[in-house]
Amino acid sequence: MKSLVHAVVGCGRVAPNHVDGFSALPDVEVRWACDRDATAARSFAREHGLPRVTTDVREVLADPEVDSVSVVTGHATHHGLVAAALEAGKHVLVEKPLALSVEEGTALTSLAERTGRVLSVVSQHRYDRVVTAVRDWIGAGLLGGLVSGVVSLQCGRDDAYYAGSDWRGTYAGEGGSAMVNQGYHALDVTRWLTGGLTVVGAAAGHTAPRGGMETEDTLAALLRGPRGALVTYQVTVASSITWRTRVELIGTRGSVLFDLDHPGTLHLADGNEELRAAAAALTSAEVEQAPPGIGYYGISHRSQIADFAAAVRDGHRMVADDRAGLDTLVLLQDIYRAARHEAAVPALSAPVG
Ligand SMILES: NC(=O)c1ccc[n+]([C@@H]2O[C@H](COP(=O)([O-])OP(=O)(O)OC[C@H]3O[C@@H](n4cnc5c(N)ncnc54)[C@H](O)[C@@H]3O)[C@@H](O)[C@H]2O)c1
Repeated sequence: MKSLVHAVVGCGRVAPNHVDGFSALPDVEVRWACDRDATAARSFAREHGLPRVTTDVREVLADPEVDSVSVVTGHATHHGLVAAALEAGKHVLVEKPLALSVEEGTALTSLAERTGRVLSVVSQHRYDRVVTAVRDWIGAGLLGGLVSGVVSLQCGRDDAYYAGSDWRGTYAGEGGSAMVNQGYHALDVTRWLTGGLTVVGAAAGHTAPRGGMETEDTLAALLRGPRGALVTYQVTVASSITWRTRVELIGTRGSVLFDLDHPGTLHLADGNEELRAAAAALTSAEVEQAPPGIGYYGISHRSQIADFAAAVRDGHRMVADDRAGLDTLVLLQDIYRAARHEAAVPALSAPVG
């Protein structure tokens, strides 16, 4: 089998997870480290043993042996970099979100279709052991009909995280903050498990903004599943706890509560004997390996990257493909729109002073 030649564009916080995932595969060469910051590119290449370094993505895309590219940069740059890579005939794994706007995201899915290249948006938690098990249980009817859900992420990001970045905490660079960045996964996984969500209402706030951020640090939304289940979703980056997620799904036959932390934990699966037995089998199985980068990113980049490399070779449809990324982007934008609308609605009850 011919080696797959891969390049990493953007050498920041999550880039090590990409090198780790591709390096673990047989017949893959991770060749290029590309970052517009020469020091970042050089030190990343040295640390991970990558043979080629550049500050100019055009050099990567001009390499005829490069088959695929990870786009691991700030949100506003995704559209331009992904479009250029697809136009150059490369397959693309882009970090979430697919793009800043639905229009840009739609243009990218059309371009992937036209060029016949794989475009996958990172949603690594769709590959978590607990999440895939819950998805199977829902499919097998072990929860019955979903009626309710409670989904939350509390995490802590300090002033330096925003103040030290030219894109985080800005509408132009990040497109929002707490939801589109940290809260993305809990929303994406819940949308996937419930079979789709629409927005009933939302509010976003600056409860304790860090490092001069102009975007939301806290957001809450009320969402509805396809058969009417009501889901509350909350996210904040202003907690004193670094990372803690909870996803609770309540069905007419059974309920589950699990997290997207590392290692992913099933906290509850109850309501019928079949579900309890499935949960016991899951929790007794072999547990997780150590994550390659920042702990709460988990280990499932490895699984998505293995799926991506297989899709490049055999063309199968991934569970985290560009359509899934676009659908989650649409939901994110609907929630932000509802939150902006909420701000325009005058309060009927006076705040208690
Ligand atoms: N899946 C996850 O769990 C996860 C975790 C963290 C970040 N992310 C996502 O990964 C992406 C990057 O996040 P990060 O925290 O690594 O960011 P970062 O700011 O730490 O790193 C981004 C790097 O991209 C470089 N860059 C920007 N524009 C470039 C260009 N045109 N060409 C080459 N290099 C360029 C920057 O110089 C920087 O070094 C974002 O989309 C973020 O939401 C995902």
